[in-house]
Amino acid sequence: MPLEFDPLLLIGVDEIDAQHRELFARLGALLEASRSHRSREEVVRLLEFLGGYVVDHFAAEERLMESAAYPRLGGHRAEHLQFVKELSILRHELQSEGPTNLFVIRVGNRVTEWLREHIYRTDRTERRCGLDAMPVT
Ligand SMILES: [Fe+2]
Repeated sequence: MPLEFDPLLLIGVDEIDAQHRELFARLGALLEASRSHRSREEVVRLLEFLGGYVVDHFAAEERLMESAAYPRLGGHRAEHLQFVKELSILRHELQSEGPTNLFVIRVGNRVTEWLREHIYRTDRTERRCGLDAMPVT
């Protein structure tokens, strides 16, 4: 079952909203594969597929914030960095232990909740609080 993208998470910038949807699509595929006990190689591939997109997406978001001379960019960037680190720890665990039940729980809970909370609390709030230079298309 694909992971639902909650419309509450829309921030009103089409480019970023489309990227957030793609993040959830890739996360859903990873969750599904690890839940249905697919091979370690396949799950690693899907985690890397997600991780690569996360890095590109964060860079795109930070570029938009830079062009808007957004004052809280440092804190926002630190949140992004923390998430990338967590994904890297998960990748190491996955490579050494395979897609264990604990891995499924972490992806389904911690990773999913982090993304939802970050988008809702940080991305959406910052958009409201003056990311006016973000192109609304
Ligand atoms: Fe963000």
